[in-house]
Amino acid sequence: MTVSRALEQLRALLPQARPRVAVVLGSGWGTLTGQLRQPRCIPYAGLAGFPASTVAGHAGQLWLGRLGSVDVAVLAGRQHAYESGAADGMNVALRTLHALGCEVLVQTNAAGSLEPEMPPGTLMVVGDHINFAQRSPLLDERGSDRFTSMADAYDPQLRRVVLALARTLGVPMREGVYLWCLGPQFETPAEIRAFRLLGADAVGMSTVPETIVARHAGMRVLALSLITNLAAGLSQQRLSHALTLSQAQAASAMAGEFLVQVIQSICLPDDAAAV
Ligand code: HPA
Repeated sequence: MTVSRALEQLRALLPQARPRVAVVLGSGWGTLTGQLRQPRCIPYAGLAGFPASTVAGHAGQLWLGRLGSVDVAVLAGRQHAYESGAADGMNVALRTLHALGCEVLVQTNAAGSLEPEMPPGTLMVVGDHINFAQRSPLLDERGSDRFTSMADAYDPQLRRVVLALARTLGVPMREGVYLWCLGPQFETPAEIRAFRLLGADAVGMSTVPETIVARHAGMRVLALSLITNLAAGLSQQRLSHALTLSQAQAASAMAGEFLVQVIQSICLPDDAAAV
């Protein structure tokens, strides 16, 4: 199986690595890798079953290192379902990190806001999601555990920790519902109006498949969205990947710093130093 192959490769390269937290970096969150102590970087190409990304601005590297007292594994770059139609591109990478010891998955992404009071440059902690693409990364699973509960998919305790931290640090943040569109085209204004009626606060093209895999594997999940634009029809701005990247870049220092604090505040069962 590819998970065991990738695990063997990782153990051969880094026999001491025992990461507790896995992080998926989306657009605008990339500064985290520069803050790792004792960093080690392994290109996805050297790990069986890890994805090859086709998207500009999304590196394909696994980083291991320490942030404060926490050993982390950072996936810099994810495969998106819009690249092939398949939603299971991150399965092997996530399950390998879980097998290596990661109990928590922290996901980050860039998203469009459906709420004018959540403007570009603000952060949203994902409280729940709408799988509007209605795709699943679990289609090859055969056991009855494939019928995974998605209630509290985003860990309530981790959400509370993050919201409290944002308040303490004065970082503008609210909790909201993330709606997954397959993409790669942006939404129409009519779609955005419909998504507001469905209860979405932000829209994006990632995150949901990885949450499903992580919950199926038994990991606790936290997801943070960096709002890069108001969604289609809510402003005069013409949406493009370049706009997403430039807005993400503008907020990346704030987002990256906040993410470091988040990871250090996450409560791990046998880590007495954590909050
Ligand atoms: N729509 C979908 N995905 C996105 C957006 C958006 O407006 N902004 C950043 N990622």
